[in-house]
Amino acid sequence: MRKKIVGTSWKTHIYSMVEGKELAQEIKERVGYVENIDIFILPTYPLIPAIADILQDSHIKWGAQNVSHREKGALTGEVPPRILRELGCEYIEIGHAERRNIFHETDEMVAKKVKLSLDYGMVPVVCIGESKEEKDEKLSKVKLKTQILWAMNDLGEEERKKVILAYEPIWAIGQEEAAHPDYVEEVHSFLRQTLQSEYGNESSDMIRIIYGGSVNSENALELSRQENIDGLFVGRFGLKAADFERITQAVLQVKDKYKERMVR
Ligand code: 13P
Repeated sequence: MRKKIVGTSWKTHIYSMVEGKELAQEIKERVGYVENIDIFILPTYPLIPAIADILQDSHIKWGAQNVSHREKGALTGEVPPRILRELGCEYIEIGHAERRNIFHETDEMVAKKVKLSLDYGMVPVVCIGESKEEKDEKLSKVKLKTQILWAMNDLGEEERKKVILAYEPIWAIGQEEAAHPDYVEEVHSFLRQTLQSEYGNESSDMIRIIYGGSVNSENALELSRQENIDGLFVGRFGLKAADFERITQAVLQVKDKYKERMVR
């Protein structure tokens, strides 16, 4: 059984130390005790040590929104994986649409970052997703499969199982509304089948597939209810601790339903 998971990337929405520390503190007070699902926060790099200090005595984990594609060397402005590990990062977000589009990050770089993160004992959260044009031209599946194959390219079976795939359709990021839960379920089920046919049942059963793109406290429950959605990845609507708590509760609620069903 895959453990449900809720994560939030603050992107650069949170852009001061004071604001970041206050938000982390409040989130910790509201959901820091939760053990039945995994929870993580991805602040901007310089906030990581302060967030680590706040969260270390809670169940909430932290990580980074990016990592260098090479371990070390002449890479001005990049952040090496080793330092992130030393700062206690457990999760590394890789290949977000904003990184691919604004910073021209390629599938090849994504593959290197995935491998390096795992080498340093961190879980890669690999973002994949199609644009509106690709969706309209019925190219979503080709795009998603290509992104998965690249991301898993250098990995052995045990490494593969640790990867989290975050399905984030580009057209649903930063919008008023998320993609429809039925649509997301259809895509996630395609992703699951792709993992099965490429890597076998054992890997496919372990790899978590989460959804991101305008998740909020209203749509979180319906999204979480879908069979192949293993968790949610939240942007803007997680920037208030009360909203993030409601989203977490939605995932918890569904998780507990599963448990009840299994007990009966
Ligand atoms: P929003 O929730 O703000 O749409 O952002 C989603 C996202 O990109 C999470 O990585």
